[in-house]
Amino acid sequence: MPTLRIHRDGQEPQCLDAPEQATILDATILNRSPLPFRCMAGHCAQCAVQVTEGGDNLYEPTASEELVLGSAHLARGVRLACQARIRGALSVAPVS
Ligand code: FES
Repeated sequence: MPTLRIHRDGQEPQCLDAPEQATILDATILNRSPLPFRCMAGHCAQCAVQVTEGGDNLYEPTASEELVLGSAHLARGVRLACQARIRGALSVAPVS
């Protein structure tokens, strides 16, 4: 099972077990440590995260991510945690 590392301001990094193909947000909810979120549908961007390691271990951005984040943010490694699906180990930090 891939490892998802979360870097929250002022806290030690947290390592979570992340089921393959789960979204980043679902993995944090399953581990009872949810990231900020609101719509869970790729509309609000409340769940935006900066991928700091392992960006290649996420599936391609969804149409919602392309629309809400735009190509510039995606190119810098920003993803929507409720949309981005895990296929390997990665590290993220909440944007908000
Ligand atoms: S929770 Fe709204 S876009 Fe992810």
